[in-house]
Amino acid sequence: MVILVTGGAGFIGANFILDWLRVNDEPVLNLDKLTYAGNLENLTSLTGDARHVFVQGDIGDRVLLDKLLAEHRPRAIVNFAAESHVDRSIHGPEDFIQTNVVGTFHLLEAVRGHWTNLPDDEKAAFRFLHVSTDEVYGSLEVGDAPFTESTPFSPNSPYSASKASSDHLVRAYHHTYGLPMLTTNCSNNYGPHQFPEKLIPLMILNATRGKPLPIYGDGMNVRDWLYVTDHCSAIRTVLQNGRLGETYNIGGWNEMPNIEIVKTVCALLDEMRPDAAGPYTRLLTYVTDRPGHDRRYAMDASKIHQELGWKPAETFETGIRKTVRWYLDNMQWVENVASGEYRKWLDTNYAERGAQ
Ligand code: NAD
Ligand code: TYD
Repeated sequence: MVILVTGGAGFIGANFILDWLRVNDEPVLNLDKLTYAGNLENLTSLTGDARHVFVQGDIGDRVLLDKLLAEHRPRAIVNFAAESHVDRSIHGPEDFIQTNVVGTFHLLEAVRGHWTNLPDDEKAAFRFLHVSTDEVYGSLEVGDAPFTESTPFSPNSPYSASKASSDHLVRAYHHTYGLPMLTTNCSNNYGPHQFPEKLIPLMILNATRGKPLPIYGDGMNVRDWLYVTDHCSAIRTVLQNGRLGETYNIGGWNEMPNIEIVKTVCALLDEMRPDAAGPYTRLLTYVTDRPGHDRRYAMDASKIHQELGWKPAETFETGIRKTVRWYLDNMQWVENVASGEYRKWLDTNYAERGAQ
């Protein structure tokens, strides 16, 4: 038995593989294109471990997919592969359409061809789990009830629109062809190995370099934060026991405005790596807002709790402490990912924002 994980060299995919192989011995075939966000250094602890097989490739490559499915006959696929950063989708949406929409379509077509011809027992046991986001539901106002699985999709960024499209395709392949699909929609993740373009690692990195901490708009946009290993355990739970064709919301019941998140990171850095120049909050800088910036996301994660018994193991206090510690202990990882491409991205995204 083997599972196929796509996008397993990225932030959540790599955490998922590391956790998967910690809790069981079933091998993982990891298909990843290694874009700027994919990093095999996330998986160095698996070097020499025969349970992890890496293949560099694109989920949109039908020839490769047909070959991998025929050769390895995975019993399940977990699809993490995606372009994942909202700001990049604003500066250049094309890659998002190509991977998240067209790539997912090709992956689904390959799986349909493969699954249709499986013997009945393998067909019945097969699962395809599509990993998605709360951003497909759009934006909430203060006081609105959190998103449930029946909240209509209302994506606002090219990223969320591309993810919503892929979710629709997954739904249609279940409804039309009977493919054994599961979809998870999760809130903002944080934790080790997250690329430092996203809020929390960007703030840790900038603070340790004495650089400004750029807060978009008024800093009062709200996200619902979940520690990455809790997302991984939720995915394992849905893969094991989720009802076919269903979607499951995953969240930490932990809504916080961005400014509070960044101040928490600053306080932890003050404690763990005090700076002679003064508290890290001195670096807070309000900058021009993200265009179309969603105000608030909040997940109602009661379905996965009531049906499948899942709940997060970490609180925000324990998770954020582990996260800051991990980045401070792994500055070489950070230096290695902060390549020329990364510096170019910082220029593209921040140079013209300026302080407000
Ligand atoms: P990431 O950007 O860190 O990693 C994405 C990975 O996919 C990278 O390793 C990249 O090389 C790979 N990839 C990109 N295009 C590919 C292609 N065409 N073929 C094969 N591999 C490709 O993203 P992440 O934060 O780990 O997110 C993983 C998934 O979880 C995404 O589908 C994302 O939409 C979803 N998600 C993320 C969050 C979050 O807070 N990060 C929250 C909810 C859902
Ligand atoms: P991000 O980590 O990009 O995740 P998402 O947009 O998918 O929620 O951003 C999280 C929040 O932090 C979002 O409201 C935008 C804000 N943000 C900043 O204020 N400054 C920054 O430099 C970044 C990257 C994000």
